[in-house]
Amino acid sequence: GSDHAANRERSVTRTPEKPFRSRDWFADPERSDMTALYLERFMNYGLTPEELRSGRPIIGIAQTGSDLSPCNRIHVDLARRVREGIRDAGGIPMEFPTIPIFENCRRPTAAIDRNLAYMTLVETLYGYPIDAVVLTTGCDKTTPSGIMAASTVDIPAIVLSGGPMLDGWHDGELVGSGTVIWRSRRKLAAGEIDQEEFLRRATCSAPSAGHCNTMGTASTMNAVAEALGLSLPGCSAIPAPYRERGQMAYETGRRIVDMAYEDLRPSHVLTRDAFLNAIRLVSAVGGSSNAQPHIMAMAAHAGVDLRADDWTEHGYDIPLILNMQPAGQYLGERFHRAGGVPAILFELAKAGKLNGDCLTITGRTVAENIAGRETKDREMIRTVAQPLMDKAGYLVLRGNLFDFGILKTSVIADDFRERYLSRPGEENAFEARAVVFDGSDDYHHRINDPALAIDENCILVIRGAGPIGWPGSAEVVNMQPPDALIRKGVLTLPTLGDGRQSGTSDSPSILNISPESAVGGGLSWLRDGDVIRIDLNAGTCNALVEEDEIARRKREEPAPPVPDSHTPWEELFREKTGQLDRGGVLDFALKYRGVAAKTPRH
Ligand code: FES
Ligand code: MG
Repeated sequence: GSDHAANRERSVTRTPEKPFRSRDWFADPERSDMTALYLERFMNYGLTPEELRSGRPIIGIAQTGSDLSPCNRIHVDLARRVREGIRDAGGIPMEFPTIPIFENCRRPTAAIDRNLAYMTLVETLYGYPIDAVVLTTGCDKTTPSGIMAASTVDIPAIVLSGGPMLDGWHDGELVGSGTVIWRSRRKLAAGEIDQEEFLRRATCSAPSAGHCNTMGTASTMNAVAEALGLSLPGCSAIPAPYRERGQMAYETGRRIVDMAYEDLRPSHVLTRDAFLNAIRLVSAVGGSSNAQPHIMAMAAHAGVDLRADDWTEHGYDIPLILNMQPAGQYLGERFHRAGGVPAILFELAKAGKLNGDCLTITGRTVAENIAGRETKDREMIRTVAQPLMDKAGYLVLRGNLFDFGILKTSVIADDFRERYLSRPGEENAFEARAVVFDGSDDYHHRINDPALAIDENCILVIRGAGPIGWPGSAEVVNMQPPDALIRKGVLTLPTLGDGRQSGTSDSPSILNISPESAVGGGLSWLRDGDVIRIDLNAGTCNALVEEDEIARRKREEPAPPVPDSHTPWEELFREKTGQLDRGGVLDFALKYRGVAAKTPRH
């Protein structure tokens, strides 16, 4: 009680770096008529005209949790702690909903919602009297969409992750989100388990509130937010049900009020060096391949010049040091206990592979935040000198089929390396016969057709799965081999596609191919039986097809089918969205960076 009062008292007498934008709503001396209208309805839930006019900052809580967003639903409860933190530090909380995004359930794909969530959050933050914002994050796209919007508006913003679920266990074995699905699908195909057992494994992997407990896209993107300097240190890895999660929510609420007074905005934190740190982190933790488009999108909205080749130049040489599924063995609880993101950054910094000078939302540098955060669990977090795998980052490939494709090397298993990559004389190259599918329905209908004669010398190709083709870009490139091949012990084939792949999958795939087939990219002229040559040393991927023949196919043969749009947003998304190499952003939106500097008209 008295603490609260003292804190508020202190805050009232604090002077912000610059007047809060909410003053223009609630204290515009020239428009007292409008001010009354702005004020009266907020009284209905207990705010007073005095506090709204007091000059204290109004802190938005962008609520991503709902019944339709179960991965983020913990935020419905955490928001109470955030509010307490905001109140105690002298701010005024205002919670509002964002559109639901649930990776596993949204059809035709949750990817179409990232840009929609981005755009609608921009409108909310810009058009209402909000001085600073807590971005509640969790499920895959909720993190990048919030950060993209915060950059466009450029008001003080802090990321509060909801945290992963507790570790899943089944028959004495760790079972992780998503990963257990992809692995059990292979067992189902091989006839080793039945449907009931499949469902049991799936539910065991989800034992509590929280987002995916593997280093899938959700854990990756929340770790990225922290590495970028947008969260309090240690925030991202705390499991959702842990006591510390509520404390982190409270501290986040307190910190955002100070940030409002300091006018510490995303544009001060999100530099090129911060993004390079994020790329290095993604490599070190064996993070999701979806980090590539999301990091490119966040950089684009932050006005940072990040290029495709930065992934190879700054990320490929980084070793895998985190022993977490899908690239490693363990799950989120152990990651948190081992020290979380600060412990990873600590190892990278010690090896000279991190820029410690980057400013973060704590008001201090990365180096200051991670001082003394060395892990005590070497089974979980290794050193850069003695990693789980060397050179575990991403490789960018190009050739006559595409200008950009990316390969996550941390999930290339030993048997795959032996089968495809260890040829005498040319260690990192192989050739394979293409089997081409037009979208995932076509794949599911035909993959077991004996007429395709799929064997271990094939590469499975999927097209029509990119941002325009799907629409939205789907996680379908992690295709499994035909059942007959799996029963023979061939559990993975190389795959290639203009879609994405689940961050929890451990398939060796060339992904996010740009330009995609639906806009006339090379996959559109590829045919069954063409030989594709992949050289990882040279970073090339080429179909061994003559120029004349390519030209003839383009001229004489019909382009692959593209389905119609079914909703207004699908149509608009297709009209305005770019390719995955640059993050699949709404290109026209990039020029609106820093809009909060101009207050909207009454
Ligand atoms: Fe939501 Fe994985 S499905 S976090
Ligand atoms: Mg996913």
